[in-house]
Amino acid sequence: MDLGGKRVVVIGGTSGIGLGVARAALGDGAEIVVASSSADKLAAMAETLPGAKALSVDVREEASVAALFEQVGTLDHLVFTAGDWAMRGGGPVERVDIAAAAAQLEVRFWGAARAIKHAVPRIRGAGSITLTNGMIAHRPRKGTAVSSAAAGAIEHLARALAVELAPIRVNAVCAGLIRTPVWNMIPEDQREERLQRMTRKLPVARVGEAEEAAQAYLYLMRGGYTTGQVLRVDGGQSAI
Ligand SMILES: NC(=O)c1ccc[n+]([C@@H]2O[C@H](COP(=O)([O-])OP(=O)(O)OC[C@H]3O[C@@H](n4cnc5c(N)ncnc54)[C@H](OP(=O)(O)O)[C@@H]3O)[C@@H](O)[C@H]2O)c1
Repeated sequence: MDLGGKRVVVIGGTSGIGLGVARAALGDGAEIVVASSSADKLAAMAETLPGAKALSVDVREEASVAALFEQVGTLDHLVFTAGDWAMRGGGPVERVDIAAAAAQLEVRFWGAARAIKHAVPRIRGAGSITLTNGMIAHRPRKGTAVSSAAAGAIEHLARALAVELAPIRVNAVCAGLIRTPVWNMIPEDQREERLQRMTRKLPVARVGEAEEAAQAYLYLMRGGYTTGQVLRVDGGQSAI
C-alpha cells in the first residue's frame, strides 16, 4: 500500500519529526495537510514544502481542532506529532505543582485526544492514526514522573483505540533522541558534543535524524496489517 493520492494530516508538521513525516509522505505521493499553532512556522513550512497545505490549529482548544477538521473534510491518515516544550510541573513529586503538571498533558495527550475525536468521523475506510511519545515512558529519570506517565498514556491510548476504532488502525511511534529544533536550546558551539555524549552508549551511537523517525510513521500508515503497536525509533536504547 503506498500513500499515492491519500490525504494525510500532520498535526505538528511544521517542525522536527512532523516536518520530516510531511516531507516523506509528500515524496510518496500523498496529499499533505500540515497544521500547527504558529503563523510563522506555518508560513516557513509552506515555503519549504510548497506542495503541502498549511492550516492553523491550537490543539489546546477543542473548538480550534473542530474547525481544523471542518476545513480538512475527509482524510485517510492522521499523524499527531505536536508537542510543546514548556517544562512545567516536573521535579520531585513531593514538591510538584499539580496544576502545572496537568498542563504538561494539554498538547501531547489531550491535544491528541481532541484531534482523534474530531478526525475519526472523517477518516475513510482502511485509514490510520499514528501518535507520538518518547522513550521517557520507558527510561524515567528522577523528576520526570509526569512526563513519563504522559508518554506511557499515549501508548495505552493507541492500543485501546486500535480495538475501539477498528478497522481504523491506531499506532504510536516512540522516539529516542532525535535531532529537531528542540535541541537548539543547547548553545550551538556545545550542541554536537552534548548530543554525542547523550547517545554514545546506544547501539547506534549517534543522535537520530527526523528523516529516520519519519520512516516509522510511513511504515505505520502503509502497513495495513499493523495496529495497536508502538514502534520504537530509539537507536537501540530499549536493548540496553
Ligand atoms: N526530538 C526528540 O528528541 C524527541 C524525543 C522523544 C519524543 N519526542 C516527541 O516527538 C514529538 C515531536 O517532537 P519534535 O522534536 O519534532 O518537536 P518540535 O520540533 O518542537 O515540533 C513540535 C510541533 O508541535 C507543534 N505544536 C506545539 N504546540 C502546539 C499546539 N498547541 N497546537 C498545535 N501544534 C502545536 C509545533 O508548532 P507550533 O509551535 O507552530 O504550534 C511544532 O510543529 C513531541 O511530542 C515530542 O515529545 C521528541
